[in-house]
Amino acid sequence: MTSMLSSETAEPADEGRYDRLVRADKVHGSLYTDPAIFAEELQKIWFKTWVFVGHESEVPQPNDYVRKRLATQDVVMTRDKDGEVHLLVNRCAHRGLQVCDDAKGNSSSFRCPYHGWTYRNTGELLGYPYNKGYGGKNKLELGMGRVPRVASYRGFVFGSMAADGPSLEEHLGAAAGEIDRLAGLSPEGEVRLDAGWLAHRTRANWKFLAENETDGYHPQFVHGSIFGVTGSPIGALYSDASTAVTRALGGGHSENDLRPEFRTFAEPMRWFGTKPDRVPRYVEAMRQAYGEDAERRMIEGAPHVMIFPNLFIAEIQVFNIQPTAVGECTQYATAVQLAGGEEMNRRMISQSIGSVGPAGMLLADDTEMYERNQRGVSMLDPEWLDVRRGLVREVVDEAGFTTGAATDETGMRGFWKHYKSLMEA
Ligand code: FES
Ligand SMILES: [Fe+2]
Repeated sequence: MTSMLSSETAEPADEGRYDRLVRADKVHGSLYTDPAIFAEELQKIWFKTWVFVGHESEVPQPNDYVRKRLATQDVVMTRDKDGEVHLLVNRCAHRGLQVCDDAKGNSSSFRCPYHGWTYRNTGELLGYPYNKGYGGKNKLELGMGRVPRVASYRGFVFGSMAADGPSLEEHLGAAAGEIDRLAGLSPEGEVRLDAGWLAHRTRANWKFLAENETDGYHPQFVHGSIFGVTGSPIGALYSDASTAVTRALGGGHSENDLRPEFRTFAEPMRWFGTKPDRVPRYVEAMRQAYGEDAERRMIEGAPHVMIFPNLFIAEIQVFNIQPTAVGECTQYATAVQLAGGEEMNRRMISQSIGSVGPAGMLLADDTEMYERNQRGVSMLDPEWLDVRRGLVREVVDEAGFTTGAATDETGMRGFWKHYKSLMEA
């Protein structure tokens, strides 16, 4: 047997380390298991780039708030009285207590239970008891922590813990068009994510999830049971014969573009596994809203896109992935809701319960793979994970994006390229 510490093994924390851990056709196992690498990812990715946190529709009214996560950080997404959305770090400026305990609610202020310091829902310190202890001063220059940059795109709220950096639009790049495509399935051009989130604790490194989301190689095997039970035609979209493509959208984002298949069938609502006469009011509302373009929208369907590092839009569900430790993360999942599409919304909720709910048949299968992946990769030999699938046949499309076949690992390679650029920065 060859030495497990081959010449290719990277030494810790030196220059070019990630160049050696992330190659064009393989990535090193330590990327998923090394606590030092996870600590570095928090600084260079999670506390720096734009991270998806929630949706404006979760705080529709002035003074609404909801608890959220940003990686290891507990944050409160608030809407102030003027309608602006904030992300507060859930920590008292006095002695560090977690201030807000409720999952959601409506309040213009938060009071820390420990010594009664009170904060406005913008994070500003309003006051504290017995101010003589502070020389009679009514206002110390303190407040709850705030995520310094908050921005939203079509209601999807992102936070960046870095005060400066690329704008959200720059970060999203071509992936913004996929969010537009989803919103374009609403007769009112608007998505809501207000159906409630399921939280699934997963004993796997977050990158296994991010990589898997546009891995078109696994569905036929991992999801054979749900495809069989439901008679779903989805499995065939991820076969060797499929005309669907996997595309790296730049910035670490990637998609499985299933439109070539749906265009061939040219049947409206096939993407949703139904027919127009089963959702007549929705179809009519789409035609009213978009005229001739309604047919195209209803034929092509919703996107399947992974937006770096943690937002996954899987046609009818949205996932929010948040790491909690090197070998653990939480996946939050919710059903897409389309403004003006009530017939669709009810179906999307029941389908989501069936696929990603506590007894769902889809996410449980993926999660089994993630956790087995984590267990396997902690073995020392072989050291590498192979990501070469499709390298021999991928092409650059008219728009300049690297594109592979339906089952190729083109999305993963796009993810790793961006990952390396952030970690080496
Ligand atoms: S820790 Fe919050 S008031 Fe003291
Ligand atoms: Fe899957």
